[in-house]
Amino acid sequence: MALVTTKEMFKKAYDGGYAIGAFNVNNMEIVQGITEACQEEKAPVILQVSKGARAYANHNYLVKLVEAAILCCPDIPIALHLDHGPDFETCKSCIDGGFTSVMIDGSALPFEENIAVTKKVVEYAHEHGAVVEGELGTLAGIEDEVSHAVGSYTRPEEVEEFVSKTGVDSLAIAIGTSHGAYKFKPEQCTRNADGILVPPPLRFDILEDISRRLPGFPIVLHGSSSVPQDYVAMVNAFGGAMPNAIGVPEDELRHAAQLSVCKINIDSDLRLAMTGTIRKFMAEHPDKFDPREYLKPARANIKELVRHKLRNVLGCAGKAE
Ligand code: G3H
Ligand code: 13P
Ligand code: ZN
Repeated sequence: MALVTTKEMFKKAYDGGYAIGAFNVNNMEIVQGITEACQEEKAPVILQVSKGARAYANHNYLVKLVEAAILCCPDIPIALHLDHGPDFETCKSCIDGGFTSVMIDGSALPFEENIAVTKKVVEYAHEHGAVVEGELGTLAGIEDEVSHAVGSYTRPEEVEEFVSKTGVDSLAIAIGTSHGAYKFKPEQCTRNADGILVPPPLRFDILEDISRRLPGFPIVLHGSSSVPQDYVAMVNAFGGAMPNAIGVPEDELRHAAQLSVCKINIDSDLRLAMTGTIRKFMAEHPDKFDPREYLKPARANIKELVRHKLRNVLGCAGKAE
């Protein structure tokens, strides 16, 4: 199967009440771990590449790794997406270089400027057979006091104008998720009977308002790692220091996937699985120095983590059939 856009994937996901996983890729082991799980689970998938990934691995290496995954996983649709495209030029470079989907992240711009740059990217992308994700609202960051303010959530009253004026194919919204492994401050959370931090719920009221205004339109959630506590414990047990790392509860993501959310972005969980596994291996095998020996279990654990997401969170296992 050749690379596909997300158009067909999103239509089926919307109608079927599930979401497609959008996993960030930076190297061969991550590409393999994700796509092997998707091939075995018969799940469509979005492989996404950030500006940082392109700077780290080089655009051509990443495209060729994804092309290799297509050869090795012939039964599943795969889309190649630019994550958080910062400007028109980066989006154009990715479309020219073989990506089937780009995000133009104008969320930090004034509304009219966000519309203008998104529209420009959409016109170029559609002329070249690619699709575009836009964003309204800014995701909170634990270091960023301002974006914790109420104003950072997507304003539902803006979405119809944004979508109709830009022509975007999907829309990322802010309803309380955030990037990284520290999504909520401990003082924002309560504790359950086991002493585990429980974050405040996502703003499903905002999601539902947006969905009413944009019937049938695919919504995207960024910052949707759940920060598995077993991997946080593994990192901490083997020399790491990630106190109070906390993510979005998986049951909330499952609920969002049953609504209008068709794409769920996951990166930090893969990083945690890889780092925890390598830290453990290194601590238990201080004599080993062959990178294949520690990258192999890291890749295997990424694969199992993705399998769990496909089956139990996204609901897209079996949907490639
Ligand atoms: O949204 C951010 C993704 O996790 C990519 O992160 O910019 O460090 O590659 P990065
Ligand atoms: P996480 O940091 O929660 O994995 O979010 C990733 C993301 O949104 C990539 O765009
Ligand atoms: Zn993101």
